[in-house]
Amino acid sequence: MGPVLSPLDAHSTKAIGQFQSAIRDIRRNATVSHVTEPALWGLRRTALDQLDKLHLARPAVRLYELALAAKSELVTRRLRGAEEFPLPPARLRAQIGPRQADAGLFLASGRRHADLIRELVAAGGSSIEDFDAMLDWGCGCGRIIRHWAHLPKTRVYGCDINPKLVAWCNEHLPFADVRVNDVAPPLPYPDSTFDLVYALSVLTHLPEDLQHAWVRECFRVLKPGGNLLISTMGEYYLSLKRLSDEERRSFQQGNVVVLYEGAPGTSLCSAYHPPEYVREKLAVDFDLVEFRSAVVDGRHDIHLFRKPAVSN
Ligand SMILES: C[S@@+](CC[C@H](N)C(=O)[O-])C[C@H]1O[C@@H](n2cnc3c(N)ncnc32)[C@H](O)[C@@H]1O
Repeated sequence: MGPVLSPLDAHSTKAIGQFQSAIRDIRRNATVSHVTEPALWGLRRTALDQLDKLHLARPAVRLYELALAAKSELVTRRLRGAEEFPLPPARLRAQIGPRQADAGLFLASGRRHADLIRELVAAGGSSIEDFDAMLDWGCGCGRIIRHWAHLPKTRVYGCDINPKLVAWCNEHLPFADVRVNDVAPPLPYPDSTFDLVYALSVLTHLPEDLQHAWVRECFRVLKPGGNLLISTMGEYYLSLKRLSDEERRSFQQGNVVVLYEGAPGTSLCSAYHPPEYVREKLAVDFDLVEFRSAVVDGRHDIHLFRKPAVSN
């Protein structure tokens, strides 16, 4: 006879079952369509909440990343050799986002997002080619950095809290200087070092106090007149069922909403920012140069700020 389930066991079994079913759905829809995505997120959120109560959410997410990584390793083998720099192993790519385990997506999205950064900086009246130094804060395994190899004079820096991702970059992207930093500031650079600091999907994984500390730290390492480009999860994410009604109301009242704050810096922790919160509360010491809603593959918002030439 099987074990008799206590109410807690029954809950956790149900949660794990829901999570597995959500994962099966995601894997079936390699490109998750906008029709199924809200339903999928509702299901996944319920399952994650249950697992979180049992302190199982982080291992469950990691298991999911590894499953996707194993699946995409075959495709990766085909792409190896066609690229100037090697592809990071799928298990590392999955750590910067489950969808990035897909090698084709990793390469194409990195190129697209590097082009987007270049375009936004140009829209702000600057040119990346003219910069002395720029920093990819939270660079992961170099999805974007790898596309800056041929800048004529710009020194390219990256940093991340994950030592394995940093080690991979240093071994395989020799033109970039990539370092490890802690989940809380400081960064290992002097004041006024960079013309540009960009961070795609980094503030989106930090609790509110750390977000503020990091925006202040970016201010410190930027030159006067330097650019800060950040991505956030805004209005688009309200259309998915990630947030409860109460969280959604809080977002609509102009507050940042952070889920799973106990796992700062991981993909489990996710922050949702009303654009006005970013402008008026988070980056209050900066001047806004450009804002584009859901411009990163129809999902993340982008904010481009400038540090005033003379500090206030
Ligand atoms: C979603 S991934 C995005 C990676 C990369 N920016 C990209 O777009 O491919 C988030 C990355 O931020 C890193 N990270 C999280 N908190 C950080 C922090 N406080 N400082 C530096 N990196 C951080 C994580 O380790 C992870 O590599």
